[in-house]
Amino acid sequence: MGVSACNKPNWMLRAQDAGRTTLQATRWTMTMTRVPEAVEGEGRATTTPGCVYLVGAGPGAADLLTVRAQRLIQQADVLVYDRLVSQDVLDLAPPTSTRLFVGKAPSRHAVPQCEINLLLVRLAASGRDVIRLKGGDPFIFGRGGEEVEHLARFGIPHEVVPGITAASGCLSALGIPLTHRGVATGARFVTGHCRDGVDFHLHWQSLADPDTTLVVYMGLANAPHISEQLQAAGLSPATPVLAISAGTTPEQRTCRTTLASVRRDTAMAGLTAPVLLVIGRVVEEAERIGISKVVSERNLGREAFGG
Ligand SMILES: C[S@@+](CC[C@H](N)C(=O)[O-])C[C@H]1O[C@@H](n2cnc3c(N)ncnc32)[C@H](O)[C@@H]1O
Repeated sequence: MGVSACNKPNWMLRAQDAGRTTLQATRWTMTMTRVPEAVEGEGRATTTPGCVYLVGAGPGAADLLTVRAQRLIQQADVLVYDRLVSQDVLDLAPPTSTRLFVGKAPSRHAVPQCEINLLLVRLAASGRDVIRLKGGDPFIFGRGGEEVEHLARFGIPHEVVPGITAASGCLSALGIPLTHRGVATGARFVTGHCRDGVDFHLHWQSLADPDTTLVVYMGLANAPHISEQLQAAGLSPATPVLAISAGTTPEQRTCRTTLASVRRDTAMAGLTAPVLLVIGRVVEEAERIGISKVVSERNLGREAFGG
């Protein structure tokens, strides 16, 4: 197996080889340096590593956090956060906390996952508790599993705090049930995007099911392809689709369309990330029984189904 810059630093290997249960952090330098080189307090010798809390920040609105997440953020010493974590959520942290942004900013590439993994280990090894804040739920398209795997490998204590994922958060807030008796017997969450250089492929035949709701995360750029593949697999071109941008936030916008028209209508609506695509009859059912309109007007002061 090849050795990458993000593999274990030597001192970690030594500590593990010696069978120790605690970590002895000495100063070491990462070879990839886009994350901050040094953070206050980091690098001081300690025998007890801090704990890393992987905290779900929910879909956007700060009052959709769990009580546990809110408590941890309010006590945070150091926060490592992604792009989808809203300012309202960050504002809950003490002004004295250290905040490290590791998301994809408009002007630069995302911090590679292996650097984030190392940063978390590095901070915890210096004895600091770390709040690793992620949009939605850390384990739904959030790469939380990889971070936990890495922390476990280095013997860093960690805890996962669930968050409301975008699919259930955005839909319920709009009054659209993910499942509904007689309309949708289940819901599937899929990614509409895959790693660079890897062919995007989903099991279209199984996803083209008119009796379940399909929610596509990160699917806006591939919406035309997704629409074509689902139709080719037998899903009706008239299947209702709702695209939701920045759901649950004051910037929320929606675009109601159909599978056949999703390319044209989402382009005309000019939606910007983050966007969820909701495909299925629950969209129409919510309109038919009138719940979505009432909820969205009351909660957000605008109509969910603009045309
Ligand atoms: C990397 S995934 C992270 C998902 C997150 N862990 C969760 O559980 O919601 C990012 C994608 O989630 C979706 N998303 C997250 N928050 C959203 C929101 N408020 N409105 C619409 N889509 C959202 C979008 O599809 C976005 O591209």
